[in-house]
Amino acid sequence: MVSYKDLGLVNTRDMFAKAIKGGYAIPAFNFNNMEQMQAIIQACVEASSPVILQVSAGARKYANQTLLRYMAQGAVEYAKELGKNIPIVLHLDHGNSFELCKSCIDMGFSSVMIDGSHLPYDENVALTKQVVDYAHQHDVTVEGELGVLAGVEDEVSAEHHTYTDPADVIDFVQKTGVDSLAISIGTSHGANKFKPEQCTRNAEGILVPPELRFDILAEIEKKLPGFPIVLHGSSSVPQEYVKIINTHGGALKDAVGIPEEQLRKAAKSAVCKINIDSDGRLAMTAAVRKIFVDQPAEFDPRKYLGPARDELKKLYKHKCENVLGSAGQA
Ligand code: G3H
Ligand code: 13P
Ligand code: ZN
Repeated sequence: MVSYKDLGLVNTRDMFAKAIKGGYAIPAFNFNNMEQMQAIIQACVEASSPVILQVSAGARKYANQTLLRYMAQGAVEYAKELGKNIPIVLHLDHGNSFELCKSCIDMGFSSVMIDGSHLPYDENVALTKQVVDYAHQHDVTVEGELGVLAGVEDEVSAEHHTYTDPADVIDFVQKTGVDSLAISIGTSHGANKFKPEQCTRNAEGILVPPELRFDILAEIEKKLPGFPIVLHGSSSVPQEYVKIINTHGGALKDAVGIPEEQLRKAAKSAVCKINIDSDGRLAMTAAVRKIFVDQPAEFDPRKYLGPARDELKKLYKHKCENVLGSAGQA
């Protein structure tokens, strides 16, 4: 048993309380490898932002849970070396069983998500409560989810979304004791968040998605004043990256995300954690594709992963400073 406290990590409790009061959201960035971890820490140290490092089931399969935990431990020291002891949470993203959440808690994670959103309501309540009961014995915070996001990813898939029903939220939070609640108000995972027929096109032919359901968010906030709300699937899918990818041999069709102004608006409300993964994938892919086309003789991985890391850092700093409002809050 390793306690996250001995690794220099923190749970989300104080972080979220400050974020709600301050009208900003904490970035939750996924990581699977060293370059992503470096970019996240460099960006958040420079922006002086608290940060949540997220490990998904796919990341555990790809990189190994133990290695990722040691990298997060290293991230705490790395941040100090870069000059700022920012608060860092190590969070399990989309945990799907009690056993997995327990194993992460036992090995030093400071926060876990138990995603029972696809289960019947009573089963979601029972599973979430089981995780909360164990996590709270170790002062680990828990994120639950109500409502289903549309979108398809390796380990996270749902054909159609079901918006969170505000009528359920008080009962869910009271029965489970969760510390934060992920909700479904129109975001979804991946780089194709809306079908083209759900969007309009602007003068340049770029897809403009429908607005998030801020009315549902407002109703949930009214029922749970001051309670931390989480938004998954919050990449904005920057069209400049899509363009670089597609003009350098890529084939991303109809990629569309959540406009940054809408995330800024959400961050000013009770939304205090915003999950971003796909935008980072696009930034790295654009940088790597460009180098492969422009410098075809290059074969040192540091020569394409290094610039990809720099692009990722730039993107994440921008998110902290201009979208989530977390810059300067560490
Ligand atoms: O919510 C999903 C995250 O983007 C992680 O995706 O399961 O492919 O690692 P992944
Ligand atoms: P995106 O696919 O929009 O980046 O969402 C990531 C996410 O929700 C991770 O849990
Ligand atoms: Zn997610």
